[in-house]
Amino acid sequence: MQNFKDKVAVITGAGSGIGAGLVRRCIAEGMKVVLADINQQNLDQMAEELTSITTNDCMMFIKTDVSKKQDIQRLAEKTKKKFSQVDILFNHAGIPGPLGPIWKADYDEIEQVIKVNLLSMMYALKAFVPMMIEQNTPGYIVNTSSAAGLKLGFDMAGYTITKRSVVTLSETLSLDLEATKSKIKVSVFCPEMVATNFAKLIPKEKATDSESVKKLRQYFYDSFPAKGIPVKEAVDQVFEAIRNEKFYIFTHSKESYAQIKNITDNLLAGNNPIDLYK
Ligand SMILES: NC(=O)c1ccc[n+]([C@@H]2O[C@H](COP(=O)([O-])OP(=O)(O)OC[C@H]3O[C@@H](n4cnc5c(N)ncnc54)[C@H](O)[C@@H]3O)[C@@H](O)[C@H]2O)c1
Repeated sequence: MQNFKDKVAVITGAGSGIGAGLVRRCIAEGMKVVLADINQQNLDQMAEELTSITTNDCMMFIKTDVSKKQDIQRLAEKTKKKFSQVDILFNHAGIPGPLGPIWKADYDEIEQVIKVNLLSMMYALKAFVPMMIEQNTPGYIVNTSSAAGLKLGFDMAGYTITKRSVVTLSETLSLDLEATKSKIKVSVFCPEMVATNFAKLIPKEKATDSESVKKLRQYFYDSFPAKGIPVKEAVDQVFEAIRNEKFYIFTHSKESYAQIKNITDNLLAGNNPIDLYK
């Protein structure tokens, strides 16, 4: 997709961080944007910011919990009613899920991370893809995974399982659309650390947390703002990929490729999983 002007984007998790960065870029490209987020305060802040740079007929704010299929359905219906079309769907909302080994996680934490990070994307594909196919115009879907979705990790089972599944979901989606000669293209976004509020979504400390989990939580609290690349840099990479129809989008390709190669070489050598971080 080369030309973005007057196109319509739907962005989940649009109220903060990378999602908010995608919104700003879409507006700068002259697009119309539907902002979906569970956090009304985040949406209100975005509304205040955007009022000075675009008009009400170019934006819509919909409080949406992506883990609920009826919310996603409502998002699609409201988008169609206001804008009559969808050109780019950014399935971006996600949560870190519980830290620590899976057997220590609560049932509701396990179910929540799978719903928010994975099932939500399937709900959104069911709600939006038929509409986009019917339009018969060039369209684009960007699913946000993580570099963690292609690597090995410990103490974050819910996150890594769902993010790896998002890569697979995007790969099969891309092939399925291609098989029907669809005009819709797909990318999967696999960032390393980007400076956002993401660590704030990590569940609070529990009495059962091990020392390594406590350290990991602190590492995330300290690292996202300090070590993450600026949001704009990550968003630029996403738009560059959309322009070039590049499927895999990495923010730190050199580091991510080296680790993925390491894991793959290890697997092909017939060895057991390795801890990349030791
Ligand atoms: N920041 C990073 O370093 C990084 C790295 C890899 C992947 N990611 C991915 O980027 C996405 C968002 O991260 P961010 O860094 O922009 O974080 P962020 O915390 O700044 O923004 C996340 C937004 O998603 C919203 N959200 C959370 N649960 C939701 C739900 N159920 N329904 C709708 N909205 C919901 C939050 O309210 C928030 O506004 C996630 O999918 C995450 O896995 C981020």
